[in-house]
Amino acid sequence: MTTLLKLDQLSTSYGQSRVLWNIDLEIPAGGVLALIGRNGVGKTTLLKSIIGVQPLSGGSIHVDGRDVSALKAFERARAGIGFVPQGRHIFPHLSVAENLETGLAALAERGTGSIKAGVPEHIYELFPKLKQIKDRKGGVLSGGEQQQLAIGRALAGQPKLLLLDEPTEGIQPNVVQQIEDALRSVRRDLGVTIMIVEQYLDFAWSFADTYCVLQRGRIVRQGSTATESAAEVAHLVNI
Ligand SMILES: Nc1ncnc2c1ncn2[C@@H]1O[C@H](COP(=O)(O)OP(=O)(O)OP(=O)(O)O)[C@@H](O)[C@H]1O
Ligand SMILES: [Mg+2]
Repeated sequence: MTTLLKLDQLSTSYGQSRVLWNIDLEIPAGGVLALIGRNGVGKTTLLKSIIGVQPLSGGSIHVDGRDVSALKAFERARAGIGFVPQGRHIFPHLSVAENLETGLAALAERGTGSIKAGVPEHIYELFPKLKQIKDRKGGVLSGGEQQQLAIGRALAGQPKLLLLDEPTEGIQPNVVQQIEDALRSVRRDLGVTIMIVEQYLDFAWSFADTYCVLQRGRIVRQGSTATESAAEVAHLVNI
């Protein structure tokens, strides 16, 4: 099986303060990895280091066999990395359709799609609600609608690798199920490899194949969600 994401001894600092220490991690193509850990352990910093908005202080990142460590964030997006940020970061004054169109920028020069072609229909098929509300401003959407929009926007760039930072945070349980269903379909129908930061262990266990626990910037445990139970790692995650 080919490896889609490979982190080798990745380290990141904010100024003098080191936050991530020698992270080694791999995700096979088409796989789903859940990154878990308490508040402030460095989960978001790890995703930001992978997408290129936070510089590495050491180590390397390979995506689909290509070393992207020296690339800028927009070049990494074009290399196939999509990102759904914590808190969603929807543009409040743009409509749903316009928010989705901002995600098309990653396609420029890649030759796999066209900005002029507009929002791909499969995104509206994944999230039918977004089609119904495509002219509504981003700022008035519910949390669940915003999360669907943030995922749709990342998918508009046709990523090979999708990084999601706590997509269920602050979302009602019935909408969590819709988001999980959509992500399953992203994996199954689009073949996208997924790394998801998730504090809600039941969701992480039902969706991911492998997990990785961060504690104070280090990986303290990783394994398979099929052969280990969430209860075995809960003490490393719960406060
Ligand atoms: N821009 C920044 N400048 C300096 N320190 C930062 C910055 N962003 C985060 N940190 C610090 O780095 C550490 C890791 O933060 P990070 O946001 O990666 O944690 P997290 O695991 O995502 O937490 P949460 O579960 O609350 O989202 C924390 O101690 C945080 O205070
Ligand atoms: Mg975070």
